[in-house]
Amino acid sequence: MSTGSVLIIDDEPLMRLSMLDALKAVGYEVQDASTGNEGIDKIREGRFDLIITDLRLPGSDGLQILKTCKDQSPHTEVIVITAYGSVDTAVHAMKCGAYDYITKPFSMDELLLVVERVNRLAALRQENQELREELEGKFSFEGIVGKNHRMRAVLEKIKLVSGTDATVLIVGESGTGKELIANAIHHYSPRRNHGLIKVSCAALPETLLEAELFGHEKGAFTGAVKQRRGRFELAHQGTLFLDEIGEISPVVQIKLLRVLQERQFERVGGNETIEVDVRLVCATQKDLKKEVEQGRFREDLYYRLNVVPVQLPPLRERRDDVFLIADHVLQELAARMKQPTKKISRQAREVLMRYSFPGNVRELENTIERAVALAQNSEEIQAWDLCGQSSCPYLGGQPQEGCGFCMEFQREKGERRSSGETLAAARERFERSHIMEILNQTHWSKTMAAKVLGLSRKALWEKCKRYGILTADEPTENGGS
Ligand SMILES: Nc1ncnc2c1ncn2[C@@H]1O[C@H](COP(=O)(O)OP(=O)(O)OP(=O)(O)O)[C@@H](O)[C@H]1O
Ligand SMILES: [Mg+2]
Repeated sequence: MSTGSVLIIDDEPLMRLSMLDALKAVGYEVQDASTGNEGIDKIREGRFDLIITDLRLPGSDGLQILKTCKDQSPHTEVIVITAYGSVDTAVHAMKCGAYDYITKPFSMDELLLVVERVNRLAALRQENQELREELEGKFSFEGIVGKNHRMRAVLEKIKLVSGTDATVLIVGESGTGKELIANAIHHYSPRRNHGLIKVSCAALPETLLEAELFGHEKGAFTGAVKQRRGRFELAHQGTLFLDEIGEISPVVQIKLLRVLQERQFERVGGNETIEVDVRLVCATQKDLKKEVEQGRFREDLYYRLNVVPVQLPPLRERRDDVFLIADHVLQELAARMKQPTKKISRQAREVLMRYSFPGNVRELENTIERAVALAQNSEEIQAWDLCGQSSCPYLGGQPQEGCGFCMEFQREKGERRSSGETLAAARERFERSHIMEILNQTHWSKTMAAKVLGLSRKALWEKCKRYGILTADEPTENGGS
């Protein structure tokens, strides 16, 4: 049986239906369209491994379809159907990115042969790419681990922007890695040999923060017994990281705006104008746009700070990174303690997968560290090591108030009891657990997992979506994520 999703675009009904039947018969998921425009709509809406299109069509022609396909979904392969004697057009289509062509008239056996060939090669290429990426350690950059497509987009962006002096605004919940990203931007930039100076804007009251940032002259205020240079001066030629920027008062906002506009300022209590060459990176958990709308944050400053926005997704929206990060932490701990790397039991993995991680990556790190300490004499971390309580419900004890893992256990048990666990529910539970197990074995390569499970990548993606295994907007596979 073959797996994969195919879209057939052809205006001749008989031809279209014959292809549809032939491909369905060997196991493909097939959709069809009778005009170019309908085809393009389907490409925009759906995800296909392969598109078979006639070159001459009413509406958009095959070349336009090819172009849309390469723009929208570069890894989807396209086979074009050409009329007898129009080899030139076929060659042109291949130059534009078509994988192969087939000349009319053709038998369904010929069609299947071409389709099988494309399918096999596409799967191989995908596997190669994934292996190469793993080898190159592409899932880790400056200590930032992640293969989730949103995290990879973030990494691509910071690689690009590091070389410039553009101000970056990093936004994300607590523990999502904002500081880690700020470090990476600095270390990847031409300023890496100068300082990376960090200030937490929430830690200080207004007047102290002002003096901290801009420095002060002797006698500027009580206690200012000598002149002191501020963080902006210290960061000269380097990078200044302003953490929790959403917390700064209106007075500091105005001063900051001026530095950003004119690159100069005066120390508190001083007249001398100081010029600095500083690259600014800011971070916040707040939605600054909303702060602007509610009049708490200056709009002009917001635009100056938000030149390159970097949004870090919460961990619960990038579950495909959970094990990758957990493994990374396990390896680091093992290296530090000079011990073999511990594994995570199947049940513990399920718990990690279901848990919402309100504290994001930091909470995952702490959880794994604690679990390793608790599982000292065992090769495997168990579910109860995650919870860390001696009376953990996974050991038959009472759930601890305020422990997210215990709550998770209770919730799952409750769900099972309240549903009376019908056969369908039990089957779903098993299906979910089995998919996760295979995904884990294949290091989250959806291509390989789909193959092992005997599903198309699309069917796997749909199941993952249904069971909340991956982020809702995860692409099937094409981005290789
Ligand atoms: N993608 C990642 N890969 C590996 N480690 C990560 C990743 N993201 C975060 N961490 C780790 O998680 C911890 C928290 O990260 P960080 O301090 O950068 O978060 P933050 O967003 O600044 O949090 P807060 O808002 O609470 O200050 C750190 O130990 C960091 O190294
Ligand atoms: Mg931080």
